[in-house]
Amino acid sequence: MAQPRRSPHDYYETETTDHQAETEIILLKHIPLSPGSPSPLQRDAHLQFLVRNLIQGLPSRYISQDASQPWLLFWTLQSFSLMGVAIDPNNKQKAIDTIMAWQHPKGGFGGGPGQAAHLLPTYAAVSTLAIVGRPGPGGGWDQIDREKMYEFFMSVKQPDGAFLVAHHAEVDVRGTYCLLVTAHLLDMLTPELLEGVPNFIKSCQTYEGGFSSASQPYFSPEPEGPPTLLDSPRPPLGEAHGGYTFCSLASWVMLQPYLSLQEPSVQQPSLNFKTLLRWLVQMQGSEIELGGFKGRTNKLVDGCYSWWVGGCFALLSSLGIIGSHDHDHDHEPTVHQEDEAWDDIDDSLWDRAALQRYILCAGQHPAGGLRDKPPKPADSYHTLYCLAGLSTAQHNVFLSSTRRDAILGCWKILPESTQDQLRRACFTHSLAWTEEEGTSHILGSKSNRMNATHPVFNLTMTHTEGIMAHFYKQTIPP
Ligand code: FPP
Repeated sequence: MAQPRRSPHDYYETETTDHQAETEIILLKHIPLSPGSPSPLQRDAHLQFLVRNLIQGLPSRYISQDASQPWLLFWTLQSFSLMGVAIDPNNKQKAIDTIMAWQHPKGGFGGGPGQAAHLLPTYAAVSTLAIVGRPGPGGGWDQIDREKMYEFFMSVKQPDGAFLVAHHAEVDVRGTYCLLVTAHLLDMLTPELLEGVPNFIKSCQTYEGGFSSASQPYFSPEPEGPPTLLDSPRPPLGEAHGGYTFCSLASWVMLQPYLSLQEPSVQQPSLNFKTLLRWLVQMQGSEIELGGFKGRTNKLVDGCYSWWVGGCFALLSSLGIIGSHDHDHDHEPTVHQEDEAWDDIDDSLWDRAALQRYILCAGQHPAGGLRDKPPKPADSYHTLYCLAGLSTAQHNVFLSSTRRDAILGCWKILPESTQDQLRRACFTHSLAWTEEEGTSHILGSKSNRMNATHPVFNLTMTHTEGIMAHFYKQTIPP
């Protein structure tokens, strides 16, 4: 009798191997192995699902998510942006007013009205304001108290370059990413804020190549007085994970302008890109899991890692670690049916077609919304990160030096201080991402197309440019 298809295994049965085998059986039922068109993207159903969650509220089992209100709004509205859904002015205003009620009087945003400021909801609130906000009274952008927010950021900074996610809370590299994105969008960058951050990021890289959430602090907490820095390098805390790896690598990309402004005689920290690349490639599901990504070794594929892990490849290409795929110069996006060869792109490291197939066939819930994997229910978090993963698999968004020079050429005032130089360098570096015309690769019908998203911020280029041009008081070349 023919054996059912399975990923290679060593016949040593554990709970992990059982879960893996069960998942493969389920996925094989959803993802066709034979050629044919993948399931079309059910835009309307996803839109209705997202709106239902937002407007009607979530079931009571979600009560523990009360501190995640900014996240729910970000997942919803950024999913709209990716699907090209416009938000009408009334709803934009409702969103702005809701977000502004989360601002803490001492700076930063909490997870709901009256809640303590925390780096994660601060990122979600500011990113959502990039989507719905505008300059002027009532528009949100000018209601952000940037001075107080900066004080909040400095108050959670640790002597070793890490940040607490909130007062009296823990260190987590997600906080570093959230703080850096916010500081980039709102023109709040200073050398003082960034000092030591590259060393902290480096210290989170594990022996596997991916990154963990934090590392052993290398200062001894004194009962009184400032903590004392110890000499020894600190080991990472915990195992490599796709979520932390995205946050670390995207932070590393955001730190490039800062690193390039340092004295050449001072040795700067570096990452091990060889092990990182190997780890990322190995997070890709086997032939049986058909293109989905897992978040850690010996765990299962999950749609959200389509962004957290799949999104790392564009980041690596901006650092010159891998080449971006060959650019053909058609001026029409290429639409692929399942049985066509993708002979014009380099799929040798990660398979863009297979990831799209996983998201379309296994990620979509028949009742709307996207999910981890079947038979799980959909939720707004997985909906956004599946759609963002679909976008990164479809579009080749790369850091263009031509674009950077053009933006630099428009910078209005000559930088006088190191801080001005840093601001100018971060502004040009953040906005120099571009998509080469005609290089998108869409699996299935043209209507499966997502808008391209910024590989670091996960906002559209239009939203990123809008908010940054406002806060840096610059114009951006067309
Ligand atoms: C493990 O969940 C998940 C984590 C340890 C955290 C993951 C972090 C992110 C997704 C990044 C979030 C980013 C920001 C900016 C806040 P699990 O054990 O349920 O999943 P697994 O089995 O797939 O590891």
